[in-house]
Amino acid sequence: MSLSFAIRNPTLMTELVPYVVATPFNLPLLDVQPFGAQPAQVIDPTRLSSAPFLDILHRLDGLTFGPEGMPMPKWVFYDCAEMPGAIYGLGLPANRLWPAARELFALPDGYEGIVPLSMYIAIPMQTRGVWFGHNLASAGPALRAAGPTDIDLRGLGSVTKGLALRCFGVKTFWGATQWLSKALFIHVKFGPLRLATAWTPAHSENETLTYGFDVTDDKLRASIGDRSITLERPPVDFWLDSSDKAAMQALQHRIEAGERFVIPSAPRHEAGDVRVPIAVVPSSGHGLGPGLGSE
Ligand SMILES: CC(C)(COP(=O)(O)OP(=O)(O)OC[C@H]1O[C@@H](n2cnc3c(N)ncnc32)[C@H](O)[C@@H]1OP(=O)(O)O)[C@@H](O)C(=O)NCCC(=O)NCCS
Repeated sequence: MSLSFAIRNPTLMTELVPYVVATPFNLPLLDVQPFGAQPAQVIDPTRLSSAPFLDILHRLDGLTFGPEGMPMPKWVFYDCAEMPGAIYGLGLPANRLWPAARELFALPDGYEGIVPLSMYIAIPMQTRGVWFGHNLASAGPALRAAGPTDIDLRGLGSVTKGLALRCFGVKTFWGATQWLSKALFIHVKFGPLRLATAWTPAHSENETLTYGFDVTDDKLRASIGDRSITLERPPVDFWLDSSDKAAMQALQHRIEAGERFVIPSAPRHEAGDVRVPIAVVPSSGHGLGPGLGSE
């Protein structure tokens, strides 16, 4: 499959096949060929025949979020993702999986369908076009750790999230992640991330930040690896140490007092420490787009 623009790792588009998990109620509202990608194979979670694929998808969640301590029970997949929202991802037909990958996914005997190597889940919020990101998973790191991969999977997480937001028709995006998460490197590819929380006791991980951005074509293309696009990013005002709980709490107090902040660009890993850049932005008219600037 090919996209309407050139990307850093075209192998992901030529070798992998896309899938979408969606009910017949949500499917008509999705773009199953985001940016001209090959049409996604549709998995309907309300059908018995989807069970083997969904079991392997659950395995992907266990492989990626298990080590993070946040694997999803199957009912959460169904109630909080497949029914209200949608899942988009990239995979390989089972017969193209190399032995170490087959072992990692513990494929059942005789399975011949797609093996999902990545997934992005989002859930629509009240306002049309506003979605909350629920899960990003890529088997790329686990597959590389298990040995040489038959396919170059670099960029799999980023490409999956970018295509998924396009597939779902997201106009304004909200998400939550941990300050230490490697996924922050992916999220900032969409441009500056406006902070809604910096310390989140409502989440099982207090060190969670909640972030948002208005979606544009350029942001999606940049995240997918279109090198012709450069996004605007405000200068860094200070750096937050990703292990410094007091700094997260102080930032949370400043947000609640009405100040506005963005993560303008990628974190820095230095001698075991992770530091995340922060920029102070005006409370309104900060250039992040109408959805986020209109409060
Ligand atoms: C996070 C996750 C999705 C990444 O998947 P992936 O396929 O490796 O993602 P990508 O290859 O697209 O991108 C990773 C990016 O982070 C960068 N990165 C990661 N660690 C880095 C570090 N220490 N320093 C600099 N860059 C780093 C990579 O270089 C890459 O950026 P690049 O494309 O500009 O080179 C995957 O590890 C995963 O599923 N983790 C478990 C679940 C999880 O944490 N999900 C996110 C919840 S918000």
